[in-house]
Amino acid sequence: MIKIENTVKSTINKDTPNPFLKGHYQPIFNEYTADTVSLEVIGEVPKDLQGIYVRNGHNQVHEPMGTYHNYDGDGMLHAVHFEDGKAVYRNRFVRTTGFLAEEAAGRSLWPGILEPHLAKRQGWGSMGAMKDNAGTDVIAHSGKLLATMSQCSESNRLDPITLEMLEPDKWNTEIAPAGICSHFKVDNDTGEMMFFNFSETYPYMKYGVIDSNNNLKHYVPIDLPGIRWPHDLGVTKNYSILHDLPFIFDPELLEKGERKVTFFDDMPARFGIIPRFGDNSQIKWFEAKPAFIYHLSNCYEDGDEVVMEGCVTFTPRKPAVGKQGSDAIDNMKNQFKQTAMNFNMYRWRFNLKTGETKEELLDDEITEFPVVSNEYVGKKYQYSYNSTFDEEKLWWLSGVKKYDLLDGTSQRYEYGEGRFGSEPQLALRVNAESEDDGYLITLITDMNKNHSECLILDAQDLPSGPVARIILPERIPVGAHSCWVEADRIKGERV
Ligand SMILES: [Fe+2]
Repeated sequence: MIKIENTVKSTINKDTPNPFLKGHYQPIFNEYTADTVSLEVIGEVPKDLQGIYVRNGHNQVHEPMGTYHNYDGDGMLHAVHFEDGKAVYRNRFVRTTGFLAEEAAGRSLWPGILEPHLAKRQGWGSMGAMKDNAGTDVIAHSGKLLATMSQCSESNRLDPITLEMLEPDKWNTEIAPAGICSHFKVDNDTGEMMFFNFSETYPYMKYGVIDSNNNLKHYVPIDLPGIRWPHDLGVTKNYSILHDLPFIFDPELLEKGERKVTFFDDMPARFGIIPRFGDNSQIKWFEAKPAFIYHLSNCYEDGDEVVMEGCVTFTPRKPAVGKQGSDAIDNMKNQFKQTAMNFNMYRWRFNLKTGETKEELLDDEITEFPVVSNEYVGKKYQYSYNSTFDEEKLWWLSGVKKYDLLDGTSQRYEYGEGRFGSEPQLALRVNAESEDDGYLITLITDMNKNHSECLILDAQDLPSGPVARIILPERIPVGAHSCWVEADRIKGERV
């Protein structure tokens, strides 16, 4: 069965010059339910693969107000539900309050991040002057999906199977108006979800914990020296690691009302290690080389040390905010080239007894979007799966590199010329016997064949290529983050 459930009416100009609305970015407007009885499958969907791979991404519906940036588009989830050697593909828009308001108006009501001066509403980030598009991240918590935007979202909850919007969480009002940032972390042993948000007013950051029953258990202000722009946080069994990085609005210009993100290479990066249920008075701050981080692989405790690993840059590129028209587009193109991404796998070791920080470059190849098995979040682990980049193409992910962080080796699989991947996820097979005993799953946008496919790789043997490929009903745009939802968590058998 391949069924179009709904088609959303788009108002985008078909001759748009914006490269982020064309080619491998071209949005789609059909919402499908399609199964592998009807979809072409090359290879065989493994019977011991049970759960749902979900990928979020920006999929703009309306002709943009001002210059469009790839991060402005409406969130759309693409999910592949694996069960007993079969699979069902679904894609649905994340019907946020902003999406529904624009649907009713039949046009864009908010500008994007490049031209905030066009905003007609007041307020900070996606909770005010910017539309909460919920297109950055998706994660599973408490048996349900949570889709968010990096600028801090409302709690956009969705059913993991049907992708239907659910009622907002009770804690949504408790943490308003700051909302919840992307890249919260779930401890699979306890079901607790650690999160942070940031704002333009003191205390600039708050940190919290939501329990496995989806109740807000902890929510405290974090004392930062000024407005910050963090993207991720780390967790271990007992601690969370908060980021204060020197890639910030220039404070002098900010006093004059001008926002210019600047990298201050004379300011240290600071990492605050806080007990999971601790408060500001219990944070231990560690200093490190000035840097910017989008995404961490993982963190864990090792004796007196907390170890944090992820992708770092020491020369972050300034966003194109403030530029307009073709200048902004050229700026974005340059930012999305491989050489501009310049992120490398890196390790920090923070000694809780001595206060010392040790740092170590793990690889000089540019990689980003590191992911690990859900079961190993916050624990000592061995494998990180990072995406590699095509040198010149705009956004992007050309393959996946698997790091063995214990013995320093790696293996990889490249998707091929004209084929762009999504953030993959590691899905352990049923009764898995080791950390990588499972499958690596991603979605591919194939510009050669003008289609998209779900790729399933053997996580222990990436170079051999896919075990199975499921051809999707329509070519989908390249996207952002993803998650893996284990079958027993969908059924509520595990927290
Ligand atoms: Fe992100």
